[in-house]
Amino acid sequence: MTESTDPLLQAARQVRDRAWVPYSGFPVGAALEAEDGRVFTGCNVENASYGLTICAERAALVSAVSAGVRRFRRLALSTRAELATPPCGACRQVLAEFAPELEIVSRVEGHVQTWRLDELLPVRFQLTPGAQDGAAGLQTQENGRTDG
Ligand code: THU
Repeated sequence: MTESTDPLLQAARQVRDRAWVPYSGFPVGAALEAEDGRVFTGCNVENASYGLTICAERAALVSAVSAGVRRFRRLALSTRAELATPPCGACRQVLAEFAPELEIVSRVEGHVQTWRLDELLPVRFQLTPGAQDGAAGLQTQENGRTDG
């Protein structure tokens, strides 16, 4: 599917225009499609203290989780790069907490590249290595703390 026919890529392209990128000049738009069909978007937000920059993918994920959504089907990315860009390593780890088999689509002129997250990050950090997927097994968890 091209950007013009895939609404998820269109959403990523639209939110890219909201990126705050005075330092890199590299705007990124991310659109995360939940299992229930809802779409959550995010853009990168840079900071004068460079290391505090928030990537578009994590902005979209935080928006979804804050809305109570933890199961996802697809992630679309939009940048102005000449080659399709996959999520950075930090974002792979954060996305894999919730959707280790996420399908990722990234657009370049006239062409869409697709990856699966477990292909980009075959082994993620887990507190208990080899355990079943954390978030998928924790869908009923409200909060990690029970002592108020
Ligand atoms: N960036 C993202 O938003 N997502 C990624 O996966 C990699 C990089 C942003 C961070 C920074 O604002 C700009 O792209 C250049 O690195």
